Amino acid sequence: MKGSDVMATEAVELGHVPQSWTRRHLLGLEELTAEEITLILDKAVVFKRLMAEGRKKLQLLAGKTCVTLFFEDSTRTRTSFMLAARRLGADTLDFSASTSSLSKGETLVDTAKNIEAMGVDVVVMRHRTPGTPQLLAQNLACSVVNAGDGPHEHPTQGLLDIMTIRERRGSLQGLTVALVGDIAHSRTARSNIWGLKKLGAHVIVCGPSTLVSPRWAEVGVEYSYSLDDILPRVDVLNLLRIQFERQFSRPFPSVREYAHLYAMNSERLARTKHDILILAPGPINRGVEVTPDVADGSHSAILEQVTNGVAVRMAVLWLLTGNRK
Ligand code: CP
Repeated sequence: MKGSDVMATEAVELGHVPQSWTRRHLLGLEELTAEEITLILDKAVVFKRLMAEGRKKLQLLAGKTCVTLFFEDSTRTRTSFMLAARRLGADTLDFSASTSSLSKGETLVDTAKNIEAMGVDVVVMRHRTPGTPQLLAQNLACSVVNAGDGPHEHPTQGLLDIMTIRERRGSLQGLTVALVGDIAHSRTARSNIWGLKKLGAHVIVCGPSTLVSPRWAEVGVEYSYSLDDILPRVDVLNLLRIQFERQFSRPFPSVREYAHLYAMNSERLARTKHDILILAPGPINRGVEVTPDVADGSHSAILEQVTNGVAVRMAVLWLLTGNRK
């Protein structure tokens, strides 16, 4: 097949970026509609299939440039955004904050404007301070994607988690999904909560009382301090890491005690539904939130989440920039 034929096939399978998609930025799932979330997931399914068919060099974003601007460490998000952009045919640039002129007093907005002036179409940003991607979105003409802003949101993580559940279960409607662990400091929890609820799932947040606010009930989210109590009725468990780097004081006496009460292990697995789905956004701390046998066992979709992350990020980059000059 000639290059132009391959491109034509992709265009037929994906269609154009629909008129209904009007967003320039992806800053959080709280602001998206169920239809917008479903559109991203549907397109991600197409991209995943194209990748599985070996069509890993698409030209849909040829001539576009994507820059990753990460002020916090990352393995999965940064790498998969780079891969997603390259697989769409875009040029990529990985900005190194530690060796940049930020150390000379340049503001974040000035730094971003200078990068944009080099002809960048989309900035993918991670920052420890909530609202930083929103600040850039207000100041730049190009698209901005939030790749995690402190404990606020991590929309593409929420999307890839939801894609993995939908892939395994067909629909989110009526499922009970428990987010277990450090809800207080988790951007993944927030993005999951908004996305899951919009698609019809019942959400439970579960963990120590120091990390799970009862105020989640005000937005229709159930809360529980006992994993053992909720285990028999959940369809999906998403096991979140304890974010020690965001905590000012220890929220529980010891990691050992946390693991005793909340680690998903084979004994707890035996008390779940037979088709329980185990997710974890990563990085996982083996033996803390999940034991190795469960993380690597047949109910786990942890690496499938990572695979889906590339497809979701391809869909997001294509929707945000595919129609723009
Ligand atoms: N899940 C996630 O955001 O992983 P990274 O921090 O490695 O990007």
